[in-house]
Amino acid sequence: MPFPESFLEELAARNDIVDVVGDYVSFTKKSGANQFGLCPFHGEKTPSFSVHSDKQIYYCFGCHKGGGVVSFIMEIEGLPFPDAVHFLARRAGMTVPDEGGYDEAVQRRTRLLQANKEAARFFHAKLSEPDGKAAIDYINKRGISKEMTKQFGLGAAPDSWNALTDHLVKRGYSQEELLLAGLVRRSSKSGGVYDFFRDRLVFPVIDVRGNVLAFSGRILGDGEPKYLNTSDTPVYNKKRNLFGINLARKSRAEHFLIVEGNIDVVALHGAGFDSAIAPLGTALTQEQATLLHRYKGEAVLAFDADTAGQRATETASKILEKTGIRVKVLRIPDGKDPDDFIKKKGPGAFQALLDQRETHIEYRLLTLKQTHDLESDPGRVAYLQEAQKLLASLESDVEVEVYGQRVATETGVSAEGIKSGIKKLRDQKRKQAKRDMEKAGTRPSQSMQPKERTLRYTNPASAKAEEGVLRLLLQDPTLYNEALPLQPEDFSSPFLGRAYEVIRDRIRAGRENTAATLAPLFSSQEMGHLIHLLNQPEDPAETKQALSDYIGKIQAEKRKQNPEANLLDIYKLQ
Ligand code: CTP
Ligand code: MN
Repeated sequence: MPFPESFLEELAARNDIVDVVGDYVSFTKKSGANQFGLCPFHGEKTPSFSVHSDKQIYYCFGCHKGGGVVSFIMEIEGLPFPDAVHFLARRAGMTVPDEGGYDEAVQRRTRLLQANKEAARFFHAKLSEPDGKAAIDYINKRGISKEMTKQFGLGAAPDSWNALTDHLVKRGYSQEELLLAGLVRRSSKSGGVYDFFRDRLVFPVIDVRGNVLAFSGRILGDGEPKYLNTSDTPVYNKKRNLFGINLARKSRAEHFLIVEGNIDVVALHGAGFDSAIAPLGTALTQEQATLLHRYKGEAVLAFDADTAGQRATETASKILEKTGIRVKVLRIPDGKDPDDFIKKKGPGAFQALLDQRETHIEYRLLTLKQTHDLESDPGRVAYLQEAQKLLASLESDVEVEVYGQRVATETGVSAEGIKSGIKKLRDQKRKQAKRDMEKAGTRPSQSMQPKERTLRYTNPASAKAEEGVLRLLLQDPTLYNEALPLQPEDFSSPFLGRAYEVIRDRIRAGRENTAATLAPLFSSQEMGHLIHLLNQPEDPAETKQALSDYIGKIQAEKRKQNPEANLLDIYKLQ
């Protein structure tokens, strides 16, 4: 264990989980020692995220993530354990004990970030040198201003196999470090390394703290591949970052403007729309939505108008709405992307588009309308059916009222007819949901399954008893002796077996099992599941009996799975 446990306990004590979580979640409900708010890790409209002020743990009843204050910071800030510890130490004004090499990983990441920053400086400086001429010409051709070039730290990767490598090696970075940072590749022929970005316009990817995490390199002109991007590295996860977020989060606009391309982001900022960002060539992810949610409550999607763009709009809206972000959709006429549009029509015209931005429902209704012929009766019927389905999924009655009215006017059908159609669909949905709930209730072995697929139980009957053992040991460590006959291999669930081993060994060593001390040993999904099973009811008067029943059950289930073991047992008995 890299950090002394006493330090971790102190860290947890000085960072009250209610305060820490309160920086990210606003609590709207209180029930005993539990505070509830909207879960920052998955989208939801009613609060199922709880923080327990006595136990100092969080748990989401929706996505089943949970843990202590350190796991919370790991999850929400996307930090590895040692970094989350440093984060909280800074927050509480504590110094992290220097154990010598306790945070090798932190040191290595710091080196990679320094190498990246040095590379960004190198690329940027190239713009004023002869071997950056081609990139400068391209920048000018695309109408990117000096100011934006500087603000985004754009740069030129020279047409060379080793310019960056030589530069960084001279500054003391090892080939190993450059490989880890994704700045160079190893040649399978010579065994040496070569620059990954060559003869390209480079866009540094910078996070909200100003770290240069990665690069995106555009070809100067036409050709394939159009972009080269840094793959995931110890400092970069493309799912968790967005191009331009470092600047856009400071924008005074109430919304983020989400576009497809890096070039669009730069062009929009140049035209004064400084809340533009782009999800680095991937579909928008839940992690990115969560990051955005920390800064603003609305997102305006301005994806390309082609079918791919429409699909991207659809999926991104779902993710954003789930995360609690209001979604508006911007339609750019004539299939242009924002960069084209601004070049041709100017910022004023773009502002006008922005002012007319549609709520997502309007956008979907419009898209629907375009795919049906409202002049023909069958076309109108098909449109009405689809539109009613769409409106039935709305949560707000006011929205149903407003848009129902609009669909009525468009199709010449009475608003009452449409509304009763929507009501029928909603009732059907409600009934189905109720049936699903009841079904789940009658199949306890299904509903007790961990949400995380990798933790799923293969033998729910045994797993239930295994959970019981862990629950009892966590609640009452003095039961340790009673549990001794049980071995981790006896567990049918590998996760519960590992948890048992960890908890048992810690009790044996006289250590406490708290959220703070267990956090580094389990993922937040795993912690969430441990907390969930810990909260299941158990009769406090009968713990010894219960434990021995659980152990009996686990051993019996194991024998069932393994008839040979059964035979051996019989021999032993004789
Ligand atoms: N992208 C990528 N790899 C590619 C093509 C695109 O990673 N081979 C990503 C880039 O992040 C790019 C975004 O997808 O910015 C959108 O692609 P595209 O619209 O083709 O690029 P733009 O940056 O808009 O460039 P341009 O205006 O020159 O088309
Ligand atoms: Mn584009």
